[in-house]
Amino acid sequence: MSGNHFSLGLGIGTRSAAGDWLEVFYSKPVLAPSAALVEALAAAVGYQGGNEAIALSADQLEAVTAAFAKAGDSEQQGICAALKGTAQPLVLCILASDSQPGSTPEVYLKLQLLSQRLVKPHGINLTGMFGLLPNVAWTNEGAIALGELPMRQLKARAEGRVLDVQSVDKFPKMTNYVVPAGIRIGDASRVRLGAHLAEGTTIMHEGFVNFNAGTLGTSMVEGRISAGVVVGNGSDLGGGCSTMGTLSGGNNVVISVGEGCLIGANAGLGIPLGDRCTVEAGLYVTGGSKVVVLDENGQEVETVKASALAGKPDLLFRRNSQNGRIEVKTNKSAIELNAELHSHN
Ligand SMILES: CC(C)(COP(=O)(O)OP(=O)(O)OC[C@H]1O[C@@H](n2cnc3c(N)ncnc32)[C@H](O)[C@@H]1OP(=O)(O)O)[C@@H](O)C(=O)NCCC(=O)NCCS
Repeated sequence: MSGNHFSLGLGIGTRSAAGDWLEVFYSKPVLAPSAALVEALAAAVGYQGGNEAIALSADQLEAVTAAFAKAGDSEQQGICAALKGTAQPLVLCILASDSQPGSTPEVYLKLQLLSQRLVKPHGINLTGMFGLLPNVAWTNEGAIALGELPMRQLKARAEGRVLDVQSVDKFPKMTNYVVPAGIRIGDASRVRLGAHLAEGTTIMHEGFVNFNAGTLGTSMVEGRISAGVVVGNGSDLGGGCSTMGTLSGGNNVVISVGEGCLIGANAGLGIPLGDRCTVEAGLYVTGGSKVVVLDENGQEVETVKASALAGKPDLLFRRNSQNGRIEVKTNKSAIELNAELHSHN
């Protein structure tokens, strides 16, 4: 075995009656493990290199524990100790490289690298992940394969219980896997595993965060952060606002929000926004919208497509309440003025 490895994780998960992985929980995934650790684990489980998800027997868990001890990793040893004697399926996922995932445990490892803040959104290869994520009933008794659900519901009733199906989805909620430090979430079901929430983030009840998306700093989020959307430090998303995702509808521009921005209540964003920008409450700025650029005196300078303003700082977008057109002007709360708006003065 040669070269640096991308990641590894010791996981405990759920398999269907047919033996298919439904989900995997990794307590402490490791990014860029040392060569010594990979060597020790390889010897313990017969890992030959490449990206592998190796189902572990109880004996192999012992060997893995010894390998972590040999590599001097007391944190992972502690995880092994907590897993000792479990009847639940165990897996050791070792990724030599960040290539396209090839198994369900591998996708779960990558989603947890995101939610545990070990990688940032867009910092990991998730190509083809949907095909590897089974649609699962997430219940108060854990993940259940949909084909097994009717019998499990009946069994629970027969025992005087109700099996509570909380969602039917390819993604579980993030908080059942990790609660990163320094965050608040009003309704945990609205944040999917694979979300990246930086310290200082508050997700209010109306907020939503998809996988491979999230915040990079302090943020108050009462709107929706779609898959792939990244929100910069100090930016707030107003109640019910929308950030356009790229998963459907043909939009292929990845939307982002710069630092110190405000997306107003019920507003929408279809362009990447620069720093210190504001979008008026209720205004949906799509990439193709024609936008009238106003100067300091409120005089019309030119008309541009909103997409031409992508990434530009210090802008205030509003819908003129008298004539209905979308206007952009310098955001008064901006720290520095936007050259685009002043080059015509
Ligand atoms: C767009 C927005 C930022 C403008 O706020 P502002 O910069 O404080 O502007 P003001 O309301 O003081 O208005 C300044 C001037 O612009 C005018 N103006 C504001 N919005 C306008 C509009 N859409 N069309 C025409 N004129 C408008 C005002 O009438 C006022 O005119 P005046 O100088 O003649 O008095 C604000 O309306 C907004 O939408 N904020 C979002 C708040 C929000 O949703 N927060 C999240 C909560 S969950």
